[in-house]
Amino acid sequence: MTENSPQSRAAVILAAGQGTRMKSPLPKVLHKVGGRSMLDRAIDAAQGAGCDRVIVVVGNHSPEVRVAAEKRVGADNVVTQDPPLGTGHAVNAAKHALAAFDGAVIVSYADTPLVSAEVLGKVFELGRRADLAVLGFEAADPGAYGRLALDGDQLEAIVEARECTPEQLSITACNSGILACDRSVLFSLLAEVKNDNSKGEYYLTDVVGLARHRGLTPRVCFASEDDVLGANSQAELAVAERVWQDGVRRRFMDAGVHMPAPETVFFSWDTQVSSGVTIEPNVVFGAGVAIDTGAVIRAFSHLEGAHVGEGAQIGPYARLRPGADIGRDAHIGNFVEVKNVAIGAGAKANHLSYLGDGSVGASANIGAGTIFCNYDGYFKYKTIIGERAFIGSNSSLVAPVTIGDGAMTASGSVITRDVAPGAMAIARGQQADKPGWATAFRAQKSAEKAGK
Ligand code: UD1
Ligand code: MG
Repeated sequence: MTENSPQSRAAVILAAGQGTRMKSPLPKVLHKVGGRSMLDRAIDAAQGAGCDRVIVVVGNHSPEVRVAAEKRVGADNVVTQDPPLGTGHAVNAAKHALAAFDGAVIVSYADTPLVSAEVLGKVFELGRRADLAVLGFEAADPGAYGRLALDGDQLEAIVEARECTPEQLSITACNSGILACDRSVLFSLLAEVKNDNSKGEYYLTDVVGLARHRGLTPRVCFASEDDVLGANSQAELAVAERVWQDGVRRRFMDAGVHMPAPETVFFSWDTQVSSGVTIEPNVVFGAGVAIDTGAVIRAFSHLEGAHVGEGAQIGPYARLRPGADIGRDAHIGNFVEVKNVAIGAGAKANHLSYLGDGSVGASANIGAGTIFCNYDGYFKYKTIIGERAFIGSNSSLVAPVTIGDGAMTASGSVITRDVAPGAMAIARGQQADKPGWATAFRAQKSAEKAGK
């Protein structure tokens, strides 16, 4: 579809509000749900709904939001609203950027993190059958939301709560804030919006009444309240997180992931889990994790930027950091940290180790307490362990170092040179035995104590 086709879609995402209710040095729309910022989520949804152009409206008060938006949509598609004079005024800030665009424009907010591409798609579809399409929802507690004044399925007006008559306040059909409209119609309606209301702001919502006045047909479709949850405060953000986590847990279980206590497992926006995986209680997934079928992630493990191969076992109490690539049927046990290491098929590191930067060959065995000494305070170095190698407990492997296939290191060794395939390296103090020494020592000390 070209930009000039009548079917073209664009989005205007409003992100210029101050977000004061978050009470945070981090701008509201950069707060995350499922490990992804609300701004990124809004852009994802717009792009997922087929928007060729995505315009983000930012304020001058948060340069970080501008930087984040430019990274996603390019500087040409980030426009400034300064000062913020209302939602209608904010959409109008995108007028120039969309001057050459011919098609349908959807307006959405960067602080409604659970709005999906599917929901936006539904509003666009309604927009083909109406002059103006508004997304509404039935509010359990309509509070400060704009009320939908409906006549059948025709929308007569959106009335902001502050402007409602007592009768209108009892309406539970509310405005989500999302609407779609032909670009030229939208901006011509916005040109008529006035600020003669109790807040002295230019309300986007006034375009509905203005459209009716022109004899146009605004219509409404509905989403669930959860779909359009707004996150304006830390508490609301936590509600959005819970709703999102519940949804993704349900989707994974429906796809055949076994979780005996799903409410204790936390996923990221991009977590990939195959069917036939078991995830025990209290597991946390940071960004960038993929788990292959048959793997078991045992209790209290934390994973980010990691891939877990088929049938592998992780934890309990394991930590996989970015670049951990765990091979098929490998075992990573309790209190083992793996960072930027490929672990070969069937290899085992079952207890108390730090494996950072390098690789472990298939079927190697890493003894308890093994440390890859990968960092000298300036640079990082690699530890390469061959297939079937056996690393004795409490070995320190001082990188860069290579342990050959089938080689062994003796327990307690500090290995500073490469070990040849099939060799055994021992690097520790010699053992000296003193027969009878302990018995004599105890006898002497007991006598001393008795004499006091
Ligand atoms: C708005 C709607 C209301 C709806 C509610 C849904 C209007 C007038 N009211 O009210 O009908 O029920 O959302 O949550 O539209 N923003 C700007 N510039 C501004 C003002 C706001 O970019 O000058 C942005 C904010 O960052 C936010 C969004 O627009 O992302 C909504 O603004 P907000 O002040 O939260 O509107 P509400 O009063 O909640
Ligand atoms: Mg709001």
